[in-house]
Amino acid sequence: MKILISGATGLVGNVLIQEALLKGIEIHFLTRNKSKLGSHDGVTAFYWNPRENEIDTACFKGVDSIIHLAGATVSKRWTKKYKEEILSSRIQSTSLLVESLKNKEHQIKTVVSASAIGVYPSSMDKIHNEEDPVKSDSFIEEVVVEWERTVDRFLELNLKVSKLRIGLVLASNGGVLETLKIPTQFGLGAAFGSGKQWQSWIHISDLAHLFITAASDQWEGVYNATAPEVVSQKKFIKHLASSINRPFFMPPLPKFLIKLLVGEMSALVLNSHYISNQKVTDTGFKYQFSTLKEALEDLL
Ligand SMILES: NC(=O)c1ccc[n+]([C@@H]2O[C@H](COP(=O)([O-])OP(=O)(O)OC[C@H]3O[C@@H](n4cnc5c(N)ncnc54)[C@H](OP(=O)(O)O)[C@@H]3O)[C@@H](O)[C@H]2O)c1
Repeated sequence: MKILISGATGLVGNVLIQEALLKGIEIHFLTRNKSKLGSHDGVTAFYWNPRENEIDTACFKGVDSIIHLAGATVSKRWTKKYKEEILSSRIQSTSLLVESLKNKEHQIKTVVSASAIGVYPSSMDKIHNEEDPVKSDSFIEEVVVEWERTVDRFLELNLKVSKLRIGLVLASNGGVLETLKIPTQFGLGAAFGSGKQWQSWIHISDLAHLFITAASDQWEGVYNATAPEVVSQKKFIKHLASSINRPFFMPPLPKFLIKLLVGEMSALVLNSHYISNQKVTDTGFKYQFSTLKEALEDLL
């Protein structure tokens, strides 16, 4: 099997490539970074620049499935200009892939795209599943709705399309865990806002396996890519502190302070998402890390 990955040089992509190689899958990936081009050990990099509508279409050769991860990070201050980039990077990159495949001979059967649980409205008491209606009431909801709608354009090419709505990705290097680990190491780990908001997370290895399974089993539609256990934000920081043998005694950081510090982006830590992973478990998918304790013990 050969998979083409966009956004492969990021947090998820790096682990996904390693897991795929272990399964004997050959990898092509797309990058805007010319210094990463080349081929070695079953991995070949191809150049693209979605903003300029440029792509080396040799990337599609022999590919069975596309895993689409590309998009500007949301973990950077949401200025008006940067918000445009968060959205346009996802729309342009998706459209470029669709347009490049039109009228081109290829053997691609499936597309699996990253999406995000941020598409669901924040709620302290609702358990969200894939059937729930989504709207564009906040910036992040609007981004994900538009992104998923553009991904559905692959259906025009008669491909099987799935979208994984990803929760907070926990990894040993980078991502949210690395950011939260720093104050916690100094005994300064604190919850955000009330600390009661629900956090739906996933261990990066489980996420990589989910992407590979969705591609090889030709999943269709939307799937929540989150772990079985959902925890409150306060419990999350408490577990983190105990995993690295540090005390947890700080009072929660008040909402207004977080909003003052990071602006609108504060939604990422203040919103509450209790997400059901029932649809994924119904496929027979087996998680390696079902509880936060197991995940943190492995990663830290
Ligand atoms: N990490 C999470 O907690 C999380 C949660 C929910 C959803 N997701 C989604 O899952 C996907 C992968 O996440 P990640 O954490 O691995 O992201 P990441 O580390 O930020 O990497 C994203 C990759 O996308 C490419 N990229 C960045 N800006 C781009 C632009 N303007 N145009 C085209 N490509 C661009 C980059 O590849 P090159 O520089 O090589 O081109 C980069 O390596 C993202 O779409 C993200 O929104 C992540």
